[in-house]
Amino acid sequence: MSRLTAPDLLRRKKAAYDAGDKGGRIVMVTAYDAQMARLVDMAGVDMVLVGDSLGMVIQGGSDTLSVTVEDMAYHGRCVAAGLENAHLTVDMPFMSYQVSVAQAMQTAGVLVQKGKAQSVKLEGGVRSAPAIAAIVEAGIPVVGHVGLTPQSVNAFGGFRVQGREKENAERIVRDAHAVAEAGAFAIVLEMVPPALAAQITAELGIPTIGIGAGPECDGQVLVCTDMLGMNQQFSPKFLKRYADLEGTITDAMRRYVADVKSGAFPTAAHSY
Ligand code: KIV
Repeated sequence: MSRLTAPDLLRRKKAAYDAGDKGGRIVMVTAYDAQMARLVDMAGVDMVLVGDSLGMVIQGGSDTLSVTVEDMAYHGRCVAAGLENAHLTVDMPFMSYQVSVAQAMQTAGVLVQKGKAQSVKLEGGVRSAPAIAAIVEAGIPVVGHVGLTPQSVNAFGGFRVQGREKENAERIVRDAHAVAEAGAFAIVLEMVPPALAAQITAELGIPTIGIGAGPECDGQVLVCTDMLGMNQQFSPKFLKRYADLEGTITDAMRRYVADVKSGAFPTAAHSY
């Protein structure tokens, strides 16, 4: 089977609207290596995001700000090796597109050529619109990202819900429109009130993909390690866990430790 493309995903919005239902909902999840990519692809996920969240969940940092273009290209390549069907989007990391439109185009090119991205994602609305337009013009599909944009964590004063106040909500609506008008084929809405996400979803001609943005978006994204319960200490309200891998993995490792120490493994059955 061939990989889902940006036009395929854009049509999902139009198809859902034409059919008057949400049948075309887009399912997105992050992955950072080939093994996880293979598993989420087998499960029927539509889009795999190599998120700069890897700065936190893979590199162990407290934010995404230290992630480099080389990191993203490396993990993009790893994930691409595990995909057969799903579309691959790779995040443009902090300060790899904010300096100038030329820098943004160069970074997007590296993520396609070295990171095997089918599309790139970048944060910001009105301020990022010129970069989005130039990247799209160069033939690289773009996913936008507004609301809580984690690369601006220091400006926000933390990972907080955005758009609760009228002025802030109006700014996010303007940002979402700017992203769509610049030519993005989809947009992530992160940590915004559900009514605001519903309004943006109704107004835009491109699919909205929510995380902490309520039930009215055209799609949903979660970080794979969060939804698989690999860190039980991380439990924001928006998260639904579909497994307890922290428990499963630590239990398996404890049994392995016990077996090796006791001599129960390896035995003759595991020997050549
Ligand atoms: O970096 C990331 O994983 C993301 C998603 C949470 C949308 O941007």
